[in-house]
Amino acid sequence: QTSKGKKKSFRMSISKSHVGGKDNPLMQYVLNHSLREHPVLKSLRLRTMQDSWNFMMVACEQAQFMANLAKLIKAKKVLEIGVYTGYNTLNMALSLPEDGVVVACDISEEYTNIGKPFWKEAGVEHKIDLRIQPALQTLDELLSSGQTETFDFVFIDADKINYDNYYEKSLLLLRKGGIIAIDNVLWCGRVLNPSPNDADTVAIDKLNKKLHRDIRVTLSMLTVGDGLTLAIKL
Ligand SMILES: C[S@@+](CC[C@H](N)C(=O)[O-])C[C@H]1O[C@@H](n2cnc3c(N)ncnc32)[C@H](O)[C@@H]1O
Ligand SMILES: *[C@@H]1O[C@H](CO)[C@@H](O)[C@H](O)[C@H]1NC(C)=O
Repeated sequence: QTSKGKKKSFRMSISKSHVGGKDNPLMQYVLNHSLREHPVLKSLRLRTMQDSWNFMMVACEQAQFMANLAKLIKAKKVLEIGVYTGYNTLNMALSLPEDGVVVACDISEEYTNIGKPFWKEAGVEHKIDLRIQPALQTLDELLSSGQTETFDFVFIDADKINYDNYYEKSLLLLRKGGIIAIDNVLWCGRVLNPSPNDADTVAIDKLNKKLHRDIRVTLSMLTVGDGLTLAIKL
């Protein structure tokens, strides 16, 4: 229905297949005709759906898209900022070459412990370097250990307040031609009218505006999931 009242109250999420888009037949069609999900990845998705924070999980169609991007640029070193149960971490590890690595940053053992058995079952745990501590600390350690300009792909998906810090440090860690993917850039539509006391929305909107004029990267803002910006380092 498109009555005026309905339109006004409509939460402007482009939506993920498991949140919002779940009952959308067109989304079902997309999954039915494009999702190629490794069986262990599917098991992890179903396990994650039992968790009350499952809306945080990356959409499976978005994870597949990002793995394709990583393949396209022949990525070997991936950085993931915000792991949760590690659906995207596992998907990346599965698509990386045998000598590839995902440096996975999270502060929660509770969430990442849900994923670990699945990483093992899929036979790729050796490609996953999980660091349980604030991501900023891990990024600083990577920088001070000489890993500047060595990463091919970064996925930023943790606390929104630190998004700009994650972006700046990731840009240093990224090689030229590498990709930074930034999640939740539409934040369910809240970016349209950021309330000054909503620090998360303000932080996202501020970074979106900064990226638009950032000449260090080329840019796309995609309406997949909750909004995904791709910044490619020049
Ligand atoms: C949206 S979820 C990540 C989803 C994940 N990328 C996926 O593929 O399903 C955000 C995660 O960021 C983590 N997080 C929050 N603050 C953090 C911080 N300061 N450093 C690292 N991780 C953090 C949370 O514990 C949570 O697991
Ligand atoms: C998608 O696949 C499911 C399972 O096979 C089926 O029930 C559903 O009708 C399909 N929907 C579309 C739109 O293709």
